[in-house]
Amino acid sequence: MSTSNTIMEFAHPGIRALHPYEPGKPVSELEREYGVSNALKLASNENPLGPSPMALEAARGALEQMERYPDGNGFELKDALANKHSVSPDNITLGNGSNELLELVARVFLSPDSNAVPNSVFSEHAFAVYPIVTQAVGAKAKIAKANPSSHQMPYGHDLSAIRGLIDDNTRVVFVANPNNPTGTWLASSELESFIRDVPSSVVVVIDEAYFEYVLEDEYSDSIRWIEKYPNLMVTRTFSKAYGLAGLRVGYSVTQPVLSDLLNRARQPFNVNSIAQIAALAALSDHEFINKSVSTNQNGLQQLCSAFEQLGWSYIPSVGNFICVDVGRSGAEVYEELLYKGVIVRPVANYGLPNYLRLTVGGQEENERVLKSMKDVLG
Ligand SMILES: Cc1ncc(COP(=O)(O)O)c(C=O)c1O
Repeated sequence: MSTSNTIMEFAHPGIRALHPYEPGKPVSELEREYGVSNALKLASNENPLGPSPMALEAARGALEQMERYPDGNGFELKDALANKHSVSPDNITLGNGSNELLELVARVFLSPDSNAVPNSVFSEHAFAVYPIVTQAVGAKAKIAKANPSSHQMPYGHDLSAIRGLIDDNTRVVFVANPNNPTGTWLASSELESFIRDVPSSVVVVIDEAYFEYVLEDEYSDSIRWIEKYPNLMVTRTFSKAYGLAGLRVGYSVTQPVLSDLLNRARQPFNVNSIAQIAALAALSDHEFINKSVSTNQNGLQQLCSAFEQLGWSYIPSVGNFICVDVGRSGAEVYEELLYKGVIVRPVANYGLPNYLRLTVGGQEENERVLKSMKDVLG
């Protein structure tokens, strides 16, 4: 047996069996590998307007002090977030992107001990990080059937199916609202009855990465339920509407007992100083957020009306992305689009083999992706 096999054998079984998260192809990689220039990336649900200008200016200033460690407690950012959400800073945990919070909750609650193997429950077609963080710590993922036939919300989460899978070994439930990649969402009343119904020993994570984009009247701000439910954890991010994906900053809101546990498990300086300062500035950049949201609304309308004219079906989305049915292998169409310098996201790994997920861009970017898709699909 070679040395590398021996090393493999001693790795954690969960990690050995893991398929790593596949990020959207970076523009530089496409240009290098396919010899194209002026590539367009609509693959990672990034903000087409760039970062908040106020955040950018603050980040530039913060560079001057990069010899210093960041504030490990994120005092100012937590204080501003606490004000924004009318909670205490003790309710907030900062993360290196909201992904880190998803990983922390798994490490805190899903790591097996000598008793039965713990499990997490989430929906089919749900965000790819939930199975990864579950498996990485050696826990079991239980996947609830989605709602493919729902007219209003095809492929959306079925909360009663999720509830039905919760058993004595369930420690965490992940609910994405809205979900990526389907863009489906859950109404406030339905979601709160679900949270009320879940045993209090199970942490319910409501992942609201796309919160700012959702304009539906029945959509909830789950943070207002924090006081009522000690097992509730709401996650948000600066990566999407605030345009700070590259800096990696997100947060969770929970009761203090839960934030204390998450804080014990994180690295001491998990959010870097530039990210903290930029996020703090972005929080006051209301003009930018409004512009991001209206650009997204216009873009969604532009894409949906084009899909309708072309007779392509799509999953109605409230996020800054949308899944469209390309009528054949999404992976093949994705490859063909790469030659045109356009990067989108195939979603076969999400159980949607004939779909592509497009991030909503600005008007010209949307025109370009539509034109390239028309060329490829004929
Ligand atoms: C549903 C959902 N949750 C969480 C995240 C994590 O984002 P970040 O780690 O950048 O905050 C994403 C990113 O795409 C997402 O789609």
